[in-house]
Amino acid sequence: MTSIEKLSLDDDIPPPPAGTIFVDEKVGVDTQTAGSSAESPVKTAAFALYAFPAAPAYYLKRAEDSPFAPITASALKKAKKGAEGLAKKIKAAEELRVKKEADDARKLEEAKKIVIRNDPSLPAAKSIKIRQATANREIRVKVSGWVHRLRVQKGLAFLVLRDGSGFIQCILSGDLANAYSTLTLTLESTVVIYGIIHPLPEGKIAPGNHELVVDYYDVFGLAPGGDNAISNKVQEGADLSLLLDNRHLVLRGETFAGIFKVRAALLRSFRRVYEEFGITEVTPPCMVQTQVEGGSTLFALKYYGEDAFLTQSSQLYLETCLPALGDVFCVQESFRAERSHTRRHLSEYTHVEAELAFLSFDDLLTHIETLITKTIEYVFEDKEIAEILHKLNPGFVAPTLPFRRMTYESALEWLNEHNVPNEDGEKFKFGDDIAEAAERKMTDDIGEPILLTRFPVEIKSFYMQKCANDRRVTESVDVLMPNVGEIVGGSMRIFDEAELVAGFKRENIDPEPYYWYSDQRKYGTCPHGGYGLGTERILAWLCDRFTVRDCSLYPRFTGRCKP
Ligand code: 4AD
Repeated sequence: MTSIEKLSLDDDIPPPPAGTIFVDEKVGVDTQTAGSSAESPVKTAAFALYAFPAAPAYYLKRAEDSPFAPITASALKKAKKGAEGLAKKIKAAEELRVKKEADDARKLEEAKKIVIRNDPSLPAAKSIKIRQATANREIRVKVSGWVHRLRVQKGLAFLVLRDGSGFIQCILSGDLANAYSTLTLTLESTVVIYGIIHPLPEGKIAPGNHELVVDYYDVFGLAPGGDNAISNKVQEGADLSLLLDNRHLVLRGETFAGIFKVRAALLRSFRRVYEEFGITEVTPPCMVQTQVEGGSTLFALKYYGEDAFLTQSSQLYLETCLPALGDVFCVQESFRAERSHTRRHLSEYTHVEAELAFLSFDDLLTHIETLITKTIEYVFEDKEIAEILHKLNPGFVAPTLPFRRMTYESALEWLNEHNVPNEDGEKFKFGDDIAEAAERKMTDDIGEPILLTRFPVEIKSFYMQKCANDRRVTESVDVLMPNVGEIVGGSMRIFDEAELVAGFKRENIDPEPYYWYSDQRKYGTCPHGGYGLGTERILAWLCDRFTVRDCSLYPRFTGRCKP
């Protein structure tokens, strides 16, 4: 029952005439759009009289359980006084606003008269990047970049400049601070700044422990202010899809810029380790006519009229390089038409893959764990990166050798002992896939990297070598990391041609397009193995990100291919 219906049942209260203004002192809101109904009342009688002076009646409700009733004469008298006070206050505020606008306009006009210029009597400025600031203190420098932060106050402006190599606080004073260009400067504008970098006095804090005292600057590109200002376009906590539409602007934030610096350091470190291992980098094609990891996640395309796909993995091509170049690796995009919308699946990701010849399964496991520990060690050797990582992931503990080894069958035992069910809600049995949730639960509980080995033939790919002492399982390995799960998938490869043909048959794959792959088993076969590592997954683990999407520059996943 509405308040009005209740009211009409109360014989003592006359029905409110049309145009009555309703006031509820408990739940009302004093705005011009409220008041016209009992369901949307204003809060005070004073406001009701101020905003709706011509209303035929005012109905007031004081407590939650009392009804709306016509305002009493004494309450009306008090409300009139209140309304007069309110009118005065609002008038004064309006006058103040008009005066401030006029003042601001006048100040801007005044500011236009100020001419700032690059004083030719000053020494020529040395052009530097912000990362070179410490080495170039106390001489006149020129630094170009984007306005990252800005605070303009009377006679002084503090500007934090960003150029991708770092941040520097710049101080503008006197005419420079009062100039029109400074008063109208906006975040993300590009500026060229001239001045001298001084170390900070004791007790002050700024990036690099110094500040640039500006003697001249020039605006190169003025960014929009007002509604289109960057701070209105990409607000923290905004809708995720809106942030993804504006990824090009979001990337400028400190967190994302940090992640992508770590990413560059990670790839650099991988390459350094591979160099030390004597492994050669190659670049296999992305457009292919074969599958590697099952047909269901292939992106198909027409290639001059022929059927082709975007590669799921460069593994098969790497295998063909072994006889030519020895051990090889690549850093290449892989594509998976994943239908699942999980936090660790992308449609396009950067795949670090390697293939090694004449080694045992044990050698492969040792190689993988050494690669990961050494790479992480090298990432942290870079002081700037270590600092970024300390902010992104303060609790990070670098993994140490050897990683825990666990077979698929002992993982099933662990899961059953810990009452983690399989995908059908039952106890795990040999042959079951360990789905993402179960794998994550186990990895997070154990809390350290795991080399999970010896998966059944049926749930793995056609090319995997079977274990000599148990032909039901393969010489396969997944590396599992806490908080992320699988970051590496690898195995020894079938090196016997007839066995490979049987693998194609088992998986219903036509062997014809794979003639070049099968030829490896004909023209000097050898024991070999390799692995693929998801760059965005290892980064999510390293940078403590909830999703791999944060670790891809422009993430592609179901329904997202822009910008
Ligand atoms: O386990 P996967 O499918 O193995 C292969 O592709 C092998 N052919 C690699 C090889 O032996 N050369 O994928 C390897 C790794 C996974 O462990 C995971 O880190 C990553 O690639 N990965 C993905 N990352 C993001 N999004 C996806 N959709 C991914 N699929 C796999």
